[in-house]
Amino acid sequence: MAISSTLDIPVTSTVPQHVAIIMDGNGRWAAKRLLPRTAGHARGVQSVRSAVETCGKLGVRYLTLFAFSSENWRRPADEVSLLMRLFVQVLEKEVLRLQEKGVRLRVVGDLSAFEPRLQELIEQAQSKTAHNDQLHLTIAANYGGRWDILQAMRRMLQASPELAQNTEQINEPALTEHLSMAWAPEPDLFIRTGGEQRISNFLIWQLAYTELFFTDCYWPDFNSDELKKAFEWYRNRERRFGRTSAQLQAAASN
Ligand code: IPE
Ligand code: IPE
Ligand code: MG
Repeated sequence: MAISSTLDIPVTSTVPQHVAIIMDGNGRWAAKRLLPRTAGHARGVQSVRSAVETCGKLGVRYLTLFAFSSENWRRPADEVSLLMRLFVQVLEKEVLRLQEKGVRLRVVGDLSAFEPRLQELIEQAQSKTAHNDQLHLTIAANYGGRWDILQAMRRMLQASPELAQNTEQINEPALTEHLSMAWAPEPDLFIRTGGEQRISNFLIWQLAYTELFFTDCYWPDFNSDELKKAFEWYRNRERRFGRTSAQLQAAASN
């Protein structure tokens, strides 16, 4: 069971244990080059590879990437279907590479909306990499933070129907064990590329105490140097979790 940052103070380190990224700006990257938006999505796959590689090298244990939000269905049908095709291609091509690098892949979100072929590939990729432990790579697809909280609530009540009558027993641990990423610690570092400064319904519960890093860099341009800049920024944060700076300094000198 992962530590809750609101119930206990997590142990932190200079390298973030869990990095969560909103990969934004693909469309604008393409528009700047007079290319179709979809060219930006295709190019973004390179940045995914580079982020996985760099995180693996630097000792990050969990990398979570927002690939498709529950609201992205609102996009033009041809863009949505290209994104789905790209997802299928990446799953077909990249699993071997993940295997070699000891990466465990998981996909979180409401997968029931995907076509059967994609669901099958996700299933296979997850089981093929299930024994890996070097880096836990999670792709959030048809994911929404509100969906996650609601599905956790439903599953909690299904598992413990008596809670409906004893609502005072509904607490953080009871709910969080049913969140779709219950196995992972809360993210230490959140990165959003593409210049927008919003959460866009990503891991809204889990980001309660995460350090938030925003960069104007478009996702297809987000290479290992850009990622290292975010890590450097993170290293200089003072994570207080509600305490004062003086308390932290006193604890450090003890
Ligand atoms: C992020 O890039 C990729 C997805 C949401 C799938 P965008 O497609 O949102 O790119 P911009 O924000 O329009 O530039
Ligand atoms: C967030 O990006 C979702 C993903 C990167 C998958 P969007 O580009 O969809 O976010 P909004 O709609 O601009 O907030
Ligand atoms: Mg966008």
